[in-house]
Amino acid sequence: MTASLDAFASALPKAELHLHIEGTLEPELLFELASRNKVKLRFKSVSEIRAAYAFDGLQSFLDIYYEGAGVLRTERDFHDLAWAYFQRVAPMNVKHSEIFFDPQTHTSRCVPYEAVISGLTQACRRAEKELGISSKLILCFLRHLDEESALKTLAEALPFDGIAGVGLDSSELDRPPSLFTNVFAKARAAGLRCVAHAGEEGPPSYITEALDLLKVERIDHGVRCLEDPELVKRLAAEQTALTVCPLSNHKLRVFDTLEDHNLKHLLAAGVLASVHSDDPAYFGGYVDANYRDTARALGLTRAELVTLARNSFLSSWLGGAEKTRHLAAIDRLVAS
Ligand code: ADE
Ligand code: ZN
Repeated sequence: MTASLDAFASALPKAELHLHIEGTLEPELLFELASRNKVKLRFKSVSEIRAAYAFDGLQSFLDIYYEGAGVLRTERDFHDLAWAYFQRVAPMNVKHSEIFFDPQTHTSRCVPYEAVISGLTQACRRAEKELGISSKLILCFLRHLDEESALKTLAEALPFDGIAGVGLDSSELDRPPSLFTNVFAKARAAGLRCVAHAGEEGPPSYITEALDLLKVERIDHGVRCLEDPELVKRLAAEQTALTVCPLSNHKLRVFDTLEDHNLKHLLAAGVLASVHSDDPAYFGGYVDANYRDTARALGLTRAELVTLARNSFLSSWLGGAEKTRHLAAIDRLVAS
C-alpha cells in the first residue's frame, strides 16, 4: 500500500458505527480516573497494563475490559471518557459516531444510570458544537446476564432522553439472541432502533436469530456469516449492514492473522459491510488504523476503501439529507 493510499484512507469522511465507549479507555486515563476516584488498581504502570492486553478470545478480553471500567464512577468521568474519544477521532475524519455503552457494567457497581447517560450526552453535545461530529448513543444489554436484568435496565433508561437504540454485547457463546426476544420487543415498542452483536464467535444461526427474533437493523461483526452461503445471499439481498472490526477480530483470534480476514469476500458477495474499531484502546488502533492496516493486509483498492466509507454512512441512522451531504463529501474527495 502506498503512502498516498494511506493518506486517502485517512482523508475519507467516515461514520463509526461499532464503538464501545468503555473500550476507548486508554491506560493513561484509566490511571487518572483511578486516582481521582481512589480506586486501587492491580497494575502499577501504563506499560504493565498494555502488556496485559494479550487475548486468546473474547472472554479473556472482556474480563480485563470490565475490570478497567471499574474506574468510571461519576458523570464527569463519563464525559471525560467520551470527550477524549471525540478529540482523538476528529483528525481521522470521523464525522458521525453511533456509540455503544454498557449501563449494567456501571449500575451493578451502584453508579446511577443518570450519571452515565448525562455524562455521555454532555460529551456528545460538545463534540457536535466544538468538533462538528454528530453522534447517537446505543444502550447495550450484557448477554452474559439474564433477560430480567436487561428488562430492568431498559425500564431504568426509558424515562431519560438520550438513546437512539439498543444493542446486545458481551460473551456470545451459548448466549443466543433468542434469550433476549422480550426485551428487544419492548425496546422496539418504545420507538428504539435495534442492533446486536452476532456471528463474532457465535455461529451463523445467531445472526439469523438476531434478524428474525430481535428484528435488528444491523449486525455487529457478523463475520461468521460466510459459513452459511444462504445467509450471505440473504444479507446481500436485504442489504443488512454488518459493522466489521478487523483489528478486534484479529486481536480476539476470530482470524489468526489480519491477512486471513474475510472482509474482501464480504464486499465481493455484495454485503453492506463497513469498518469500525470496537474497543480501540485495547486492540491497538482507532478507525483510521482499522482502515489502513486492513487495506495493507488485504490489498484493498481505493475503490474498496470508498465503498467502506460510503457503506458506513449508508448503514448509519442519520437522516437522508445528512447521508447525502456526507456521501457528496466522499465524491468530492474521490474527484479531487
Ligand atoms: N463488548 C465490548 N467489546 C465487545 C465485543 N467485541 N464483543 C462483544 N461484546 C463486547
Ligand atoms: Zn463490539
